[in-house]
Amino acid sequence: MPFDKGGREALEKINEQKMDLVLLDVMMPEINGFEVCRKIKADERHRNVPVVMITALRSKEDRIKGIEAGAEDFISKPFDQGEVLARVKMLLKMKDLNDRLNLAYNNIISLTSFGEMIFKTFNPLNFDYMSKIDSIVNQIIRKTPDMIYKPQIVIVCTIDEKNKWQWYEYESVFKDVNRTLLKLDFHHSLDLPSRGSSKIVFFNENDPGKIEFQTFVKRLETMSIMVSNMVGYLSSDLCIFALNYGRDVTRYDAEVLNSIVMQSLFLKSLASQVKETEDAFAYTVHALARAAEVNDEDTGDHIIRVGEYCALIAKQLGMPEKFISIIRLQAQVHDVGKIHTPAAILKKPGKLTPDEFEEMKKHTIYGAKILGDHDRLTLAKSIAVSHHERWDGSGYPYGLKGEHIPIEGRILNIADQYDALRNPRVYKPAFDHRTTYNIITEGDGRTMPEHFDPKILDAFKDTHNQFEEIYESHKD
Ligand code: C2E
Ligand code: SIN
Ligand code: SIN
Ligand code: FE
Repeated sequence: MPFDKGGREALEKINEQKMDLVLLDVMMPEINGFEVCRKIKADERHRNVPVVMITALRSKEDRIKGIEAGAEDFISKPFDQGEVLARVKMLLKMKDLNDRLNLAYNNIISLTSFGEMIFKTFNPLNFDYMSKIDSIVNQIIRKTPDMIYKPQIVIVCTIDEKNKWQWYEYESVFKDVNRTLLKLDFHHSLDLPSRGSSKIVFFNENDPGKIEFQTFVKRLETMSIMVSNMVGYLSSDLCIFALNYGRDVTRYDAEVLNSIVMQSLFLKSLASQVKETEDAFAYTVHALARAAEVNDEDTGDHIIRVGEYCALIAKQLGMPEKFISIIRLQAQVHDVGKIHTPAAILKKPGKLTPDEFEEMKKHTIYGAKILGDHDRLTLAKSIAVSHHERWDGSGYPYGLKGEHIPIEGRILNIADQYDALRNPRVYKPAFDHRTTYNIITEGDGRTMPEHFDPKILDAFKDTHNQFEEIYESHKD
């Protein structure tokens, strides 16, 4: 569109709407053509818009000035219409190629940052598939109008836990991405690849692809979702359709979508393998702890409860999440060494003789021996050997004092005693919560408050109601 009022008006219009090409006179009122060109080129938004200077002047100085101002081409007045049209066509083609290059560049940048983000936040044991899908969509969807290399709407079709296909529509609204459940039952009509493989599709309005997608597009239109172009990833359990890029789509867009989906699926598979291994490990630790109970008293879920009390204290002490989850599991094996303690001692209805007590004490050392030196069981081993040490140095097997006793041993000591007191033993009745609380906090001669790390005793006092809850909810 022509502007007659000079450079100022031209600049205003350029800022108002998207231009593909600017033809500039040099002599204009207010701001001359060189200045306008310089301003266009200085602005991030218009830098790629080609500028052609139309000038009556043939002087070398003006051409140099034009080049310095950043103009792409010059046309001298009086001009030949055919020549102008040919040059404009050529420049527009260049602009288009330039734009594509920029799109590719933007895509590479965003793929890289997506990859970084997804690996940084990857936690195989806490992998939430749907939230990963959300982040895929967040990555590929258009957030601002000028991101024409991204789709405006994304439709996801995935299988839920009950093996039902669920369809979701994602749309970005003021930089937020909203997800809504779609009432769509369409996966039958899609020609999905067989299990384990996937395919990508893309098409534009003027070349609407295979018949299955024409029907799909019509279905979407009945739901007020208009489709001008589409890129899709299809597999037997996940389909993602990206709709309405601000331009025609190409195989390249489909490849970009594919690689983003692949990264996430790779993590999903990795997460499920890690989880399987972790489950097997937890199962084995638990089974080992159970094995040691054969000769001991039947105290139901004692080992589970002790793990829970330990996690509770660790949390109260502000220990890291990882420590909390490890102690919850590995506390279970604290008495694994009792597997070597004669049943006659463990099941003796009365008080132990000093010799018997000496023999019983060895269960700590035996436990450490059984658990050995594996990296994954260092906490378990430490717990087994140190859970009968006392803060004042009167415990066993080594009579360690204060912080020489590992923190896990100090935590176990109070957790183990709470549970032993709550349960009946051949040599003692069960005590209620209040009595147990009093024995631990005030002492009964056998147990004394000085036995406990004061910080851990405080943590127990602060959380004792939760001890009672854990006991009640894991009774048998
Ligand atoms: P356990 O019965 O599971 O007890 C674990 C810990 O809880 C005991 O460690 C002790 O600190 C505390 N505890 C248990 N019952 C009482 C109680 O009635 N009063 C007080 N104040 N604390 C109690 P400890 O003493 O080192 O004993 C370790 C293990 O040795 C016990 O595990 C149990 O298997 C065995 N044991 C200890 N004393 C006797 C006993 O007199 N007779 C028999 N048959 N076994 C005993
Ligand atoms: C048990 O209930 O299996 C014995 C555990 C313990 O005394 O610490
Ligand atoms: C067992 O000690 O093996 C069974 C006790 C329970 O039900 O937890
Ligand atoms: Fe023990």
